[in-house]
Amino acid sequence: RILILDFGSQYTQLIARRVREVGVYSEIRAFDVTEEEIRAFAPRGIILSGGPESVPAPGSPRAPACVFELGVPVLGICYGMQVMAAQFGGKVSASPTSEFGYAQIRLTAPGGLLHDIRDHFDADGNSLLDVWMSHGDKVVELPPEFELMAATDSCAIAAMAHREKPFYGIQFHPEVTHTLQGKRIVEHFVLELCGCEALWTPANIVEDAIARVRATVGDDKVLLGLSGGVDSSVVAALLHRAIGEQLTCVFVDNGLLRLHEGDQVMEMFARNMGVKVIRVDAEDLFLDKLAGVADPEQKRKIIGNTFIEVFDTEATRLRDVNWLAQGTIYPDVIESAGGKTGKAHVIKSHHNVGGLPEDMAMSLVEPLRELFKDEVRRIGLELGLPYDMVYRHPFPGPGLGVRILGEVKREYAELLRRADAIFIEELHREDWYHKTSQAFAVFLPVRSVGVVGDGRRYEWVIALRAVETIDFMTARWAHLPYELLERVSNRIINEISGVSRVTYDVSSKPPATIEWE
Ligand code: XMP
Repeated sequence: RILILDFGSQYTQLIARRVREVGVYSEIRAFDVTEEEIRAFAPRGIILSGGPESVPAPGSPRAPACVFELGVPVLGICYGMQVMAAQFGGKVSASPTSEFGYAQIRLTAPGGLLHDIRDHFDADGNSLLDVWMSHGDKVVELPPEFELMAATDSCAIAAMAHREKPFYGIQFHPEVTHTLQGKRIVEHFVLELCGCEALWTPANIVEDAIARVRATVGDDKVLLGLSGGVDSSVVAALLHRAIGEQLTCVFVDNGLLRLHEGDQVMEMFARNMGVKVIRVDAEDLFLDKLAGVADPEQKRKIIGNTFIEVFDTEATRLRDVNWLAQGTIYPDVIESAGGKTGKAHVIKSHHNVGGLPEDMAMSLVEPLRELFKDEVRRIGLELGLPYDMVYRHPFPGPGLGVRILGEVKREYAELLRRADAIFIEELHREDWYHKTSQAFAVFLPVRSVGVVGDGRRYEWVIALRAVETIDFMTARWAHLPYELLERVSNRIINEISGVSRVTYDVSSKPPATIEWE
């Protein structure tokens, strides 16, 4: 396994994902992790991430000395290379111009980390590599024991290697896809130089997780809040395989789910897989509590609290349950702020259990805690879940509650559910569903005039929203074909009485959020 020490780069998680894509387990820790912890992790190699600080600045972070004493290969990326240079007696200085974007590096020494990796040759037969740079400071003097590996026109020391030990520094970012051969560089480091084996495969992850769950819970009973979303579905499938009858799931239908969603969850888990699922139809309760409430944050709170109330009532009814399973995933666990990684333990509040009655005293079991979303999806497929379920768009915990603007009413939810289903069906039909990251319909509680035959109608408005995004922090509205929008609009207006107008949301995030509330 590979240890990644985080100096606060926005790309640190990407490094961990690249290493795992190569088939090797990796974890991220803060740069100031203790020596004990590093030794306990027993890494086969260490990667020092980039970071926003400046090495020459007083008090800027350094790598723990033991990193270079364990006898394992070390790769410093960007800031990570600069600390390595500084710690070995080289010199780093702030450069007057920062370099951001594509660069072409020229390899100056054969072998080592970049052995046999090139994109082009120049006229003199030197190997050239297209890479992605993002830095202000740079190494201006090699440490005495290091030699130059690569240079660019504006950065004379773009990569370096220790003459005897397996320590490498690269100024560019192999973890971003813009560095075309980035994956090969990571692969070369992890498999060849560190000597790791590519064992981190979906089948092994599942097997390992099953063994760990069994060892953790023994013969105890486990409770899981199943939402139908990717994470809790994968936990359900995994726990079912690991402990079968010891698992009980509670699925709360809050009346704010998508069309037929409750039935589909029951069909998939209870009927097909034989998982014990208690379905709680709590639509009336949720809608009663939401009556008269228009403020989005208040709606979120009510939906969250009511969920906990319902879930707790069910949980208390079950006897002898010692464990509560949660679909917490790795990005929930690591908090990469200011270089402090791995210090936060976030319990998802949206759609999982936000609080438990004290007398329940259950321990948490979180089998996906170490996994990135793409890994969760891959093991979902490995566990036999359907592709459509595993690659489904995210759905917010408060569900249609935040897609019906203002007060939530049953009638609105019913219209919205049908409009949303038509939109999603057409996206699938035209092969656009997986080209968008999230797509849905929104109910606008305004009446607009329409004409049907000779009569005027005065009815509701549906807005369609579809976005493309990687991280959901920023998003671009999806440029759906007009023909597709036209068909969706016609179908919604013709098939759903009560809707007279359909609009398409062309706002990007920022400044507009993805959800309308
Ligand atoms: P926004 O609207 O903030 O959405 O751009 C970003 C992502 O978060 C989801 N979202 C939520 N998920 N509970 C959730 O579980 C919420 O209250 C909530 N609000 C937004 C949204 O669907 C999008 O994927």
